[in-house]
Amino acid sequence: MNQNQTQEQNIVLQKQVQNLKKSLPKANFIGSTILKYQGFWCSEQQIKNVIAFQTQFHARDSDIFIASIPKTGSTWLKSLLFSIVNRTTKHTQNPLLVNHPQELVYSLETDVYGNAFAYPRPHHLDELPSPRLLSTHLPYASLPESIKVSNCRVLYIARNPLDTLVSLYYFSIGVMNKYFSKDLIKRFISMFYPIPSMDDFFEACCEEKIPFWPFFDHVIGYWKASLEEPNKVLFVKYEDMKEDATYELKKIAQFVGMPFTTQEENEGVIEEIIEMCSIKSMKQLEVNKNGVINELFEKKSYFRKGEVGDWTHHFTPPMIEKMKKLMDEKLQGTGLSFKLSP
Ligand code: A3P
Repeated sequence: MNQNQTQEQNIVLQKQVQNLKKSLPKANFIGSTILKYQGFWCSEQQIKNVIAFQTQFHARDSDIFIASIPKTGSTWLKSLLFSIVNRTTKHTQNPLLVNHPQELVYSLETDVYGNAFAYPRPHHLDELPSPRLLSTHLPYASLPESIKVSNCRVLYIARNPLDTLVSLYYFSIGVMNKYFSKDLIKRFISMFYPIPSMDDFFEACCEEKIPFWPFFDHVIGYWKASLEEPNKVLFVKYEDMKEDATYELKKIAQFVGMPFTTQEENEGVIEEIIEMCSIKSMKQLEVNKNGVINELFEKKSYFRKGEVGDWTHHFTPPMIEKMKKLMDEKLQGTGLSFKLSP
């Protein structure tokens, strides 16, 4: 597509976004407006990127997508998938030593369509080597049609809602602190948007007014797709990866059509990848310690504790009861469940 065509497309997109913003239900999430679009909550700033992704992206049969709700372990899965796919590629230096995993597997709505009206795109999709490794937080039902009908593959990572919530809480307050410390005006604005307490956050969570939530609709959408089309969608749980990374890694490699050979297994390739991508190793790398992604997200904030069950330190018994009840209600009859402790 040339520059003129892109400009025309952008004018249409801009109008569509303006109209949508007027009509969609609104809510507040830690001081910024979120809109309910196609059944999920989306930040006001990101909606144009989401629509650009939905209308302009064309999937290839060879593409591999990582889909997730934020804070369910997608950075970990990005490093693992990248390592699986590139394990035989000859590099002078392992790219994970010099790139944050978020820079090796681009997020479609944040990086690729991050400035939906830009031309040429900052991360040009045609320049990515095949298989293209990409990620999204969109629910299954809202994915572009070409992803659903092509032979591409989707890896979905899910995590129990309590740990997801705790992780999102720490990540969000980090973002708020970073944003509000940027200049005087933002510091002034911050007086009207105090950092939320975990209790406030929990309430927002029970109402599911969080970007890319409702949580259970998201998870169940991909869960059902994985049952209906097991060769297209693989459903992975964070807790299972923590429990038996070797088993999960083999499953993922098989799913993406690059199974480990017996020789690789005997040579310890799986263990090497697991060690390289462990949170301990990732945290120690200089490239993951400093700097920001998309001007706002501290690279180090993607690696916090990396545990199952951190929620036990954060919620009162009534809060836990409420969430467990919600979880039982929503997951009833789906065959899906989450492990809550190690
Ligand atoms: P915690 O905040 O509970 O520690 P996402 O990558 O989807 O944003 O999810 C972030 C969560 O995954 C954070 O959880 C982070 O610490 C955890 N994480 C990141 N890298 C990890 C790794 N290599 N192993 C295990 N967990 C990891």
